[in-house]
Amino acid sequence: MQETSGYDPNYVMGRSAAETDRLKRQSQLYDASTWQLLKEAGLSQGMKVLDIGSGAGNVSFIAAGLVGESGAVVGVDSNPAIVEEAAGAARSLGLRHVSFQVGDISTIELDRDFDAVVGRLVLIYVKDPAALIRRLLGHIKPDGIVAFQDLDWGEGPIANPPSPLLSQAWGTVKEMFRRAGLNNRMGLSLHGAFVAAGLPVPRMSLFAPAGGGADFDGYDYMASGLRSNLPHIVKLGVATEAELALDSFADRLRTEVVAVQGVFALPTFVGAWSRRRPG
Ligand SMILES: C[S@@+](CC[C@H](N)C(=O)[O-])C[C@H]1O[C@@H](n2cnc3c(N)ncnc32)[C@H](O)[C@@H]1O
Repeated sequence: MQETSGYDPNYVMGRSAAETDRLKRQSQLYDASTWQLLKEAGLSQGMKVLDIGSGAGNVSFIAAGLVGESGAVVGVDSNPAIVEEAAGAARSLGLRHVSFQVGDISTIELDRDFDAVVGRLVLIYVKDPAALIRRLLGHIKPDGIVAFQDLDWGEGPIANPPSPLLSQAWGTVKEMFRRAGLNNRMGLSLHGAFVAAGLPVPRMSLFAPAGGGADFDGYDYMASGLRSNLPHIVKLGVATEAELALDSFADRLRTEVVAVQGVFALPTFVGAWSRRRPG
């Protein structure tokens, strides 16, 4: 078995209820782009889909809508608490064709007849994404679909005019990822990971919610991202809790941006999809 675990064998962003809430907020901002990616990749009625790093289940639920009740979705996550949460959400939504399993994706036993393997914001936490994708190819049918979406922190935030507070927060998270040994350009690195895994060159797209004004969700989203990463930001010596002053961060960012009628984009999700070569 290939070693694929990253910096933290569990998960760098923690396992709190606050993290589950952050994933849900993220879902509201980014789910439309994930639906678009999975649709373009070819997910359709009746397919059996594997969702790795399924978290609170949002990607599994999008896939479930595309494959319908004649299909099936299996989500796998190493965090037992979030798997329980996802299973509860599936029950509430009446999605009997979606199930979740606890396990590390680099070692868990899986069926070998999936039509597609998908994942969002999970390869960034994996030490060798190409090795993991290669392993997963053994679990999908010939011509099966591989579709991933991941973060790319780029050179810095897109903002007009530039926002010093946003740049500071962006730089803090990007540096935390770098010091943790994680690839903060994982999004655009999907291309290389797919090709190194033996897949045809993927089709790719970029998505980032953007906005301004007092009601934009982006201020709270940036604050919740900093909060989830706080233990690692502090532990890795990137910034102190006092320097970040998270309790007031969202309001300070809102005030700064609204005062100049500014607009900015949240972190970019890069999507990539390809199909296993038959044979
Ligand atoms: C940022 S969350 C994304 C969750 C979900 N895919 C979404 O987009 O809403 C990453 C998830 O990957 C899981 N994860 C990270 N490394 C994993 C591994 N090696 N095996 C299984 N799950 C893993 C974490 O527990 C976490 O729930």
